[in-house]
Amino acid sequence: MSSKPGSGELSVYATVAEAQAACADFLLSSLADALSASTGRVAFAVSGGSTPRPTYELMSASRAIDWERVDVFFVDDRCVAPEDKDSNYKLVMDSLGAKVPVRVVRMEGERKDREAAAAAYAKALPRRIDVMLLGMGPDGHTASLFPGHASLASHARVLFEAASPKPPPERLSLGPHVIREAGIVVMLVTGKDKAAMVAKARAAGSIDEVPARLARDGTWFIDEAAGGGSSES
Ligand code: 6PG
Repeated sequence: MSSKPGSGELSVYATVAEAQAACADFLLSSLADALSASTGRVAFAVSGGSTPRPTYELMSASRAIDWERVDVFFVDDRCVAPEDKDSNYKLVMDSLGAKVPVRVVRMEGERKDREAAAAAYAKALPRRIDVMLLGMGPDGHTASLFPGHASLASHARVLFEAASPKPPPERLSLGPHVIREAGIVVMLVTGKDKAAMVAKARAAGSIDEVPARLARDGTWFIDEAAGGGSSES
């Protein structure tokens, strides 16, 4: 069963693979809970980056989910073509979207008018995301919301980030309010380079300093290295 939303629960695993697998199980049970609580569609927002691919691959093996009622949205994506190696859409399609019959709603970040692309995605979003998977960078960013950036004060549901410190520089991202309003927020973080920031993100403070604090009350899956212990990576 999923932990109740807002639990701030932290689970630490000896290895990256164990954290990714436990996260997959929790996301599947969260989606199952959301599907059983509704007769309509369920919105699942996913992150890109390198950490979650195995989680999506493990999820794609499940036949216990009514995938046809799941809409996959993106927490963020890079402003690149959908077939680009840097595309979060490509990552998610390769690891999940091409394997189960979900509806995938792509951020069209490659459009010349980035602001128009952001506005169009905001219109495509449901009122509330039911289940959301976030990641975190060593600088404490989540989605494409970076420390000290104006995006953190934005009320926009989807925004254009033109100067991401993490390449590529141009991205579309869900805004802070959409993350705050999400039902079940899950954070998957691994690696010793993020250990100090995990502790800061889970402590009280401003999201301007540590945007990943937006997930502070979520359910966290980390490996021992990210927890400051001694482990792989
Ligand atoms: C992105 C992600 C981003 C990611 C973190 C962690 O588009 O880059 O959405 O927010 O979750 O940067 O990335 P890693 O999993 O690669 O460490």
